[in-house]
Amino acid sequence: MHNNNRASIVHQLGYAIRHPGRISPHLRRLTRNAWLRLRTRDHVDYYRAVMRSDVARGSEAAVGSKSHARWLAMGRLQFDYLVRHGLKPDHRLLEIGCGNLRAGRLFIDYLDAGNYYGVDISPDILIAAQDTLSDHDLRDKLPHLMPVRDLRFAALPDETFDVVHAHSVFSHSPLHVIEECFRHVGRIMKPDGWFDFTFDRTEGQEHQVLREDFYYRTATLTALAEKHGLRAAFMDDWEKLPSKQSKIRITLPGAARPADDPGQERQERRRRAAGQAGHVEHRDAPAERHRAVTHDRDL
Ligand SMILES: C[S@@+](CC[C@H](N)C(=O)[O-])C[C@H]1O[C@@H](n2cnc3c(N)ncnc32)[C@H](O)[C@@H]1O
Repeated sequence: MHNNNRASIVHQLGYAIRHPGRISPHLRRLTRNAWLRLRTRDHVDYYRAVMRSDVARGSEAAVGSKSHARWLAMGRLQFDYLVRHGLKPDHRLLEIGCGNLRAGRLFIDYLDAGNYYGVDISPDILIAAQDTLSDHDLRDKLPHLMPVRDLRFAALPDETFDVVHAHSVFSHSPLHVIEECFRHVGRIMKPDGWFDFTFDRTEGQEHQVLREDFYYRTATLTALAEKHGLRAAFMDDWEKLPSKQSKIRITLPGAARPADDPGQERQERRRRAAGQAGHVEHRDAPAERHRAVTHDRDL
């Protein structure tokens, strides 16, 4: 979590003094992004152009990993978490912003053939994803990789996915993109499915840096989910893991939650009846078996 506002001049000056070597790469990125923004019509178009430029320098760095070891570890972290929370081989999983399959390669290997769907706005990273498939000998698992323009899921059928997963995607998304996802994701989830996403959390002022990194309060995202009839829970057990981001789980109202305390459920219903929108529920894994995969903190 960032308590500092990374967009503030005070923070940026302090950071520059502490890390003088990072000033010129930052200025290069600032200039490149300003140019890309001039040439693109909306955020998705802009971010696709950012990815094109980043992937040209290396697809593992483009998804936020500074080394191959960290790419492997961050994929493993995502995979282990979902398995610990009940992902099964016969589940159908949709990964939003699947990138070059950092976690996707493990999901694909684990799930029954044809049960993995990955969507991404960047054709360049999806080409890199195909390299990951062949490098890891996963062709026989017949995963579905789809480029998308938006998060309306128009090509996907109703009530199809047991699990929807988005790691380090909403941390790069303005609120209207997240809202578009919330408006539509319920349609494609199975009634008792769940949707986990990570986000860059601030408990200070919400802000963005270079239109690439977006910082939200938990209450903003939970209230937005509830506005679209979804239930949102902050995942406390994810906070113990070596990731810079926080995680929220979305479920559909009325879905069974075997891990829940029925007393907590009753309390929540009472709070809803009392009209307390934006309430942040907190959840842990069914039987938390904490296992740190890496001590490096990564995106
Ligand atoms: C930081 S990378 C993370 C990739 C992958 N989730 C992982 O953990 O390796 C973010 C990915 O999300 C994709 N992305 C960003 N905004 C998106 C959107 N609105 N819809 C779909 N994909 C998006 C980017 O193209 C990029 O591949």
